Amino acid sequence: MEPLSILIATLLTSNAFPAEDGPDFSYDIITNGQKKGVRVDVYYESLCPDSRSFFINELLPTVHKLGSHMFVHLIPYGRAETLESGGTIEFKCQHGAPECLGNKVHACVIENTLTDNVLAVNVTSCIFEEYFQPTNNGEKCCKKFGVSWDSVKTCTYGSEGSQLLKKYGDMTNRLLPIDFIPTIAINKNRGSRSYQAAILKNLTNEVCKILKKNSIATGVCGV
Ligand SMILES: *[C@@H]1O[C@H](CO)[C@@H](O)[C@H](O)[C@H]1NC(C)=O
Ligand SMILES: *[C@@H]1O[C@H](CO)[C@@H](O)[C@H](O)[C@H]1NC(C)=O
Repeated sequence: MEPLSILIATLLTSNAFPAEDGPDFSYDIITNGQKKGVRVDVYYESLCPDSRSFFINELLPTVHKLGSHMFVHLIPYGRAETLESGGTIEFKCQHGAPECLGNKVHACVIENTLTDNVLAVNVTSCIFEEYFQPTNNGEKCCKKFGVSWDSVKTCTYGSEGSQLLKKYGDMTNRLLPIDFIPTIAINKNRGSRSYQAAILKNLTNEVCKILKKNSIATGVCGV
């Protein structure tokens, strides 16, 4: 290898997971008005089996127990690409065009449930339950939880959906390279690979560690 390519290879390797050297979690509590809690950012994509099982097995139950102490940010984009030319925005998604449409359904649900984290997670998890049909499910799940499917549909098929996905793409690209979908940041910290594994295995436990340290929700967290 030429010296320059060695240098580049070294930079790429050492950057492979930027937060690798960081602490596994920060004990900070986020405050917003009366609400105190832990911030959880979920980077995912709509047709991804690992994203699906994280929502159904971890995120949904954790939010049902601890939602009043969580600030959940959902970022549906994953390993997609944004292609912009001559004023049009298009996307290429890991699991093909249906995934891009699914990501838009998720993005538009999120946009219509901004004031209620639990509702957002309820509806998106419901969509994941039969994730191969994000639009059919979108309608069913919006109706089930009282979210306007008309607004979500208009957003999904219009320019709003594209603008939202582009925004989520920019947010996801700031984390690159991502080595697994879903990737979760707790209090904006992705930590090490083993921290990611611990979050995927038991999100409640990782949120509880921070809450307990701050004497919040100790009943639910079991102390
Ligand atoms: C979320 O779903 C749970 C379980 O179905 C339900 O008890 C709760 O009322 C829902 N909350 C919202 C805001 O949709
Ligand atoms: C996850 O963590 C919680 C809180 O620490 C604990 O009560 C629960 O048993 C754990 N679940 C599993 C499946 O290990």
